[in-house]
Amino acid sequence: MTAPTTTAPTDDDHENGNGNGLGGPDSGRAAAPPGDGDPFDHDALPTPPRATATLLRSLLSPLKARVVLAAVLLLLQQAAVQAGPLLVAYAIDRAVPAFRDDDHGPLIAVAAAYALCATAAGALQYGFVLASARVNQDVLLDLRGRIFRHAQALSVDFHERYTSGRLISRSTTDVESLRELLGEGLQELITVVLSFVYISVLLLWLDLGLGAVAVASFVPLYLLIRLYRRRAGRIYGVRSTAIAAVIVKFAETMNGIRPVRAFRRESVNDTAFRALNSRHERVNGDAILEMARYVVGSRLVANTAVAGIVLWGAYRVAAGSLALGVLAAAVLYLRRLYDPIDRLGMFLNSYQSAAASLEKVAGLLAQVPSVPEPARPRSLPAPASELPGREVVFDDVRFAYRTGGEVLPSFSLTLPAGQTVAVVGSTGAGKSTLVKLLARFYDPTSGRVLLDGVDLRELPVPELRRGVVMVTQEAFLFSGTVAENIAIGRPDASRADIERAAKAIGAHDFISALPDGYDTDVRKRGGRISAGQRQLVAFARALLADPAVLILDEATSSLDVPGERAVQRAMHTVLRGRTAVVVAHRLSTVEIADRVLVMEHGRIVEDGSPERLIADTGRFADLHRAWRDSLVRGHAG
Ligand SMILES: Nc1ncnc2c1ncn2[C@@H]1O[C@H](COP(=O)(O)OP(=O)(O)OP(=O)(O)O)[C@@H](O)[C@H]1O
Ligand SMILES: [Mg+2]
Repeated sequence: MTAPTTTAPTDDDHENGNGNGLGGPDSGRAAAPPGDGDPFDHDALPTPPRATATLLRSLLSPLKARVVLAAVLLLLQQAAVQAGPLLVAYAIDRAVPAFRDDDHGPLIAVAAAYALCATAAGALQYGFVLASARVNQDVLLDLRGRIFRHAQALSVDFHERYTSGRLISRSTTDVESLRELLGEGLQELITVVLSFVYISVLLLWLDLGLGAVAVASFVPLYLLIRLYRRRAGRIYGVRSTAIAAVIVKFAETMNGIRPVRAFRRESVNDTAFRALNSRHERVNGDAILEMARYVVGSRLVANTAVAGIVLWGAYRVAAGSLALGVLAAAVLYLRRLYDPIDRLGMFLNSYQSAAASLEKVAGLLAQVPSVPEPARPRSLPAPASELPGREVVFDDVRFAYRTGGEVLPSFSLTLPAGQTVAVVGSTGAGKSTLVKLLARFYDPTSGRVLLDGVDLRELPVPELRRGVVMVTQEAFLFSGTVAENIAIGRPDASRADIERAAKAIGAHDFISALPDGYDTDVRKRGGRISAGQRQLVAFARALLADPAVLILDEATSSLDVPGERAVQRAMHTVLRGRTAVVVAHRLSTVEIADRVLVMEHGRIVEDGSPERLIADTGRFADLHRAWRDSLVRGHAG
């Protein structure tokens, strides 16, 4: 067996998803323009040389004993199977003539040997199936686990470019094609190779001439298989990309079902999906056609060889230079030899697509997080006061996204422990980028972000996650109960702790009113909770986690409405005593801040207390006036 050497050519112009199922103009960020060489445009990430082989080895090496056992069982099983025609030859040429001479011994012996071989072959096959099934199950289990763990550990940066649809396709279609190979393909392939070897040797031993003809027929068959492999390999690469595109489109549309509905994109999506689906169908058609050509070609070669051997053999039997039993055995062997050739094409297919899949998976597993764990971790110093807050310093930070220009040109900022800072500024100014650097979703291109004097890059990851917590507007809830959702930041919290946090936030009343109170499953009927309530759960979660630094990134479009007073009060509670950075889009949020930063183009253009900035004539004063007016209008209307 040869190791896969070719990279399946990928043609995935449909795979640059932006995750909202709309494919509108803002898909431009995730989808870099074609030809700029962003490897994320392709399904197969740049795979380091031999990564595929290394992956395969690392999957199989813990199962070495079982693999060897399976191989030995198959070897013995084939030996038992291939003894059949030899026994037939013996029966025709020796046992039957002896039987005519009243010597029953040889025929009984040959019948007994035949029965023995058949039984042994069955038993060995049984053992092989069990052993190999165990290997397959373990490999697939291991691989799925690795894909999940690895993808989860990769940086945010990776997930922004490699869509979740593609990840799903890696752990479903690609693992599935590997399962097909391991389950049936590989066994067939080894069986065929083994029987080729056994039968060639036996034929040559039985009769050199007939054996030579059979072996000679391997040459055109080999050429045929090679041709087929080359053509099918190309088609299979395209096919796996085509099916991945179907899955990606499906996943993205359903992920973005709300905007899809809101913008009535159903028919546009239908058309796009139909196009992807029919591309998949076309490629499948090509694959079947190629397969049909191969089957016809290989049967032609096989039948010609059998006909030739029968003719020549019959002539030699008539001339007395070949025993009839030998000819019978030769024909039986040839049938056995050529029968699996059709299927050989089929499992070469599964081999091809598994190789392409494995390469994609290997490429994914070879990705290293762009936000790595520190080699020599440094812990935070002992807290200076009772309060949880710690000092945050941006020390001449510069930052650019991998796919874009510089967002923060040169950024320095010191936040004393316990200060609440509101960050405002026009859209795209870099506010979210700033807080994502503080949460270490990314590392600065140059410069440092320090927490109580310790570079975030040196902080052990668990300590960082405990120390800095970010609450985003979408306030994601995981499947599970409300209590579990609150306890995410501190899994060892008792029920009393959880309830205390919820009470402090003001979420206790609505949680108690849910069908099962704190044990209500948030994904089940009755567990549906509103956006504002979700926000409260997120605050309770943050309060319980008790971080030194809290980050809030408000939604751009939020307006102050009376119903949100509860959220505002909760925010107050959760910020108390912590160092907090709030990306603010609401007047009421800014009002609780000690300090306001106005950002434009990645720079701070105003910095001061809200009162001072309002009294000033700068941007914040304008913004403040605009907010005031919109509120007044909102209440009037
Ligand atoms: N993942 C990303 N990859 C590449 N560029 C990005 C990414 N995220 C943001 N940008 C770019 O960085 C700049 C700053 O974006 P950022 O999200 O920080 O703005 P913002 O101030 O939070 O805006 P908003 O008020 O709209 O939330 C923008 O030009 C944006 O296009
Ligand atoms: Mg933002």
